[in-house]
Amino acid sequence: MPPDDNSKELEVGELYSVLKRRGYFWPSFEIYGGVAGFVDLGPLGSLIRENIEGIWKDKFLLEEGFHLVDCPSINPEVVFAASGHLEKFSDLLVRCSSCLLPFRADHLLEDLIENPDALGKDELAAALKENDIRCPECSSELGGPEEFNLMFSTFIGPGKEKLAYLRPETAQSIFMDFNSLYRYNRDRMPFGVAQIGKGFRNEISPRQGMLRLREFHMAEGEFFFDPDDPSFKGAGRYLDLEVGLLASSDPGSTIHTTLGKATDEGIIGSRLLAHFLGVTHSFATSIGIPAGGMRFRQHLPSEMAHYARDCWDLEVITSNGWVEMVGVADRSAYDLNQHAKASGVDLRARRKFDEPIVREISRLQPKMKEMGPIFRGDAKALGEALESLDPKNLKDHISSREPITVTLRGKEVEIPSNCYELVEGQERIHVEPFTPNVIEPSFGIDRLMVSVLEHAYRESDTSPKGGESEDGTYRVLRLDPRVAPVKAGVFPLLNKDDLPELASPLNDRLRRRGLNTYYDVSGSIGRRYARMDEIGTPFCITIDHQSVEDGSATVRERDSGEQVRVPIEGMVDLIEDLCRGRVSFENL
Ligand code: ATP
Ligand code: GLY
Repeated sequence: MPPDDNSKELEVGELYSVLKRRGYFWPSFEIYGGVAGFVDLGPLGSLIRENIEGIWKDKFLLEEGFHLVDCPSINPEVVFAASGHLEKFSDLLVRCSSCLLPFRADHLLEDLIENPDALGKDELAAALKENDIRCPECSSELGGPEEFNLMFSTFIGPGKEKLAYLRPETAQSIFMDFNSLYRYNRDRMPFGVAQIGKGFRNEISPRQGMLRLREFHMAEGEFFFDPDDPSFKGAGRYLDLEVGLLASSDPGSTIHTTLGKATDEGIIGSRLLAHFLGVTHSFATSIGIPAGGMRFRQHLPSEMAHYARDCWDLEVITSNGWVEMVGVADRSAYDLNQHAKASGVDLRARRKFDEPIVREISRLQPKMKEMGPIFRGDAKALGEALESLDPKNLKDHISSREPITVTLRGKEVEIPSNCYELVEGQERIHVEPFTPNVIEPSFGIDRLMVSVLEHAYRESDTSPKGGESEDGTYRVLRLDPRVAPVKAGVFPLLNKDDLPELASPLNDRLRRRGLNTYYDVSGSIGRRYARMDEIGTPFCITIDHQSVEDGSATVRERDSGEQVRVPIEGMVDLIEDLCRGRVSFENL
């Protein structure tokens, strides 16, 4: 029975010690005592991450048609001043008045009130007082709360003039690159852009292992669309998908319905937002999160990020309770507008009409004859920046003939009144500029990875068919073959009698096909199966004496323990087909 809202938390037993011992991940800098919020992915962790990201790419690039980009992690200060992160990307911190340890204020209230991260500074202070919250380490009084910006800062170049930050999300580069990406998409809307890379957040007190890191893997998509024409390819794909929804209007109860019905009833704000909830759900299922172990929770207005006007989190049940894995946000035109304003670069798309339409217009027209001699090489760019301003917001300046301030490359420039005129009236137009809106699904890969591992883990006192535990506890990771870091164990039954001469070339052929294998000659075959089951390897191939006689070998499937004997000759194709789900083991 899959877990549901009322389910007890997952039992993960010895999972985390297995993952550490078998090379999934371990604390970074461990020989120096470690630093909270940093984790090293070992050989298997690195592979499972790549596999999950590969499935994400299949979903977003191949199925949804997104374009992939790869941009810097270090960004100059101006980027985050424009995006609002400098001012608003902070959490509320409280510090112990005695031992001085810092804590994220809302986390101290997590078991006591609903959604404490939706509380403002004063409300949090009151709630801490009301609940008599003291230092969890030494029980002394807490000070604060105070705002703490989560971005890591650094400098670009040898001096200290060029302040920079490590990106807390990958998204900003995609917004800054809008014009190049729109051109790449041949000036057509809508389109999506994806990026996989690291995000950095100086979390106040990360105490939840892989769930809260200071450096983590993100996979983000930004879907740009015309708000006047929100049609898109694949619109009907997920309308019938059943999901659990916790709407902000009634955050206490889960509604089980289809995405189509939830949109028709106004629970989800748009078809497009619903579509990306569907894409997210389908991706999470495909990597091994059971449908009953996930739900979407809408942010309360008070907990929304500064750039969002709506946001639904995909939450997954974990051994830490329900945890956010993905945020699917409606960012409206916020980011493009902010960067256009701060850079002075027009970041708009063009809406084209087959037949000209009549529009009431009101725009600032630059007088290039006057601007040229004053601004020289910058005149054109300043003219464009002026044109992109909305005269409605500048009524007083225009009527009193005051200079108008525009921003170019982060610097403010005053345009005198003889350099522009206000053009108003009706115009027949074929093309109209507009700022695209954005829906953003933002995935935390590390959190998904541990959730997949938790949901795949089984522990038992008895060994399954063929398996032989070393210490009385049998551990299996039931990973989907596409997610599993090792696809097949290859075992010569004995390390003699011509068996390695058959097994080793087969192992090489599997690896050349891109199927990662584990070649093991040591211990009983039952122990070798157990070692593979413990790391989630879906198939094991054993070469025995019959193999030498008739060219066949056994293939054992991890979850059933069943074995079939098949020709070695077709083995590489067979393992590939099994791993890709093109054939099923039961039908062999
Ligand atoms: P939280 O409320 O848990 O701090 P968030 O709302 O700040 O998360 P987002 O800003 O929406 O998270 O980030 C997008 C995704 O990145 C999250 O859904 C999550 O999976 C992942 N993520 C965010 N912060 C961390 C972190 N410190 N460590 C690991 N993954 C993270
Ligand atoms: N890009 C989404 C976030 O970082 O919150």
